[in-house]
Amino acid sequence: MASMKTQIVRSVSQMQKLSRILAAKGKRIGIVPTMGFLHEGHLSLIRSAKKSCDVVVVTIFVNPAQFAPNEDFAKYPRDEKGDIAKIKSAGGDIVFIPKASEIYPRSFQTYVSVEKLSEILEGTVRPGHFRGVATIVAKLFNIVRPDVAVFGMKDFQQAAVLRQMTLDLSYPIKFIVAPTVREKDGLAMSSRNKYLQTPQARNEALCLYRALREAKKLVTGGMTKSEDIRKVMTGRIRTICPSAEIDYIAFNDFKTLDTMSSVTSNTVCSLAVRLHGVRLIDNMRLK
Ligand code: PAF
Repeated sequence: MASMKTQIVRSVSQMQKLSRILAAKGKRIGIVPTMGFLHEGHLSLIRSAKKSCDVVVVTIFVNPAQFAPNEDFAKYPRDEKGDIAKIKSAGGDIVFIPKASEIYPRSFQTYVSVEKLSEILEGTVRPGHFRGVATIVAKLFNIVRPDVAVFGMKDFQQAAVLRQMTLDLSYPIKFIVAPTVREKDGLAMSSRNKYLQTPQARNEALCLYRALREAKKLVTGGMTKSEDIRKVMTGRIRTICPSAEIDYIAFNDFKTLDTMSSVTSNTVCSLAVRLHGVRLIDNMRLK
C-alpha cells in the first residue's frame, strides 16, 4: 500500500475499525507481533509480510502475561520512537501500540493454553510463558484480523506453539516462519543481546552459534545420534565460555516438537544457555 503513511494506533477500538475498513476494501492484512526494541531480525519479518500483503500491521506490546515475576519485564528494553522510525523504514503501514490497561483490564480472566507444545523446552524453564504468548497473540489476531502472520525462527518453539494455536482455533491466517537474522559473526539477533555488556560476554555469547555449527558439521559428516552430538556441543560451549550454564540442548521435530533421538531432515537442534547473567536461546535445522 505505497500511498499510505505509517499510522500509529493506540486504541483497540480504533484498530478494530481500521481493520474492518481495510478488509472491506479487499486489502490483505499482515501482522508482525513484537515487544518492541526492534532490530534487523524484526525488520526482516516486516519485509517478509510486505511481500504478500497490502497492509502490514506491526504491534508493539511488552506483554506482562509472558514474564514470570522473577523475569525481566520491568527492565525489558523499550524504545518506542526508534521503533516507529525503523518500522517506517522497513515499510510497515500501521503500528499498533495498545495500552496494558486495555489489553488486560482488571476483570481479565480468559487465557489460551496450547497444552503439549508449551510444556517442554522453554516451557520447563519458564512455566506459564507460552500461555502468556498464546493469549496475547490470540487477542492481537482477534483485534487485527490478519490474513498473514509472520514470526521468527529464532523462537522456534514459540512459532510451533502459535502455529498450533492458529490451527486449533481455526484462524483463517497464513502462518509464516521467517529465518533467523544473525550478526556478521553469527550471533542470533535478539533484543536481549543488549544485556551482553562486556566485550567478553559478547564474545562468549558466540558459543551457542558455534556449537550449532559444529552440530551441523557433524551431521553432514554422518553423525546422527542426538546424544553423541549433544556431548560434542557441550564440550564446545564449555571451551568458549567456561562459566556458561546450559539449560538444555535439544533435538526436536520442527512442527510436532517430538524429541528426536537421531537426526532426520526435520530435526531442529535448539539450546538455551545462561552466560554472564544473560539467558540466550538459538537453534538450527541440522539437515
Ligand atoms: O516474540 C515476541 O516478541 C513475543 O513473544 C510476541 C510474539 C510478540 C508475543 O508477545
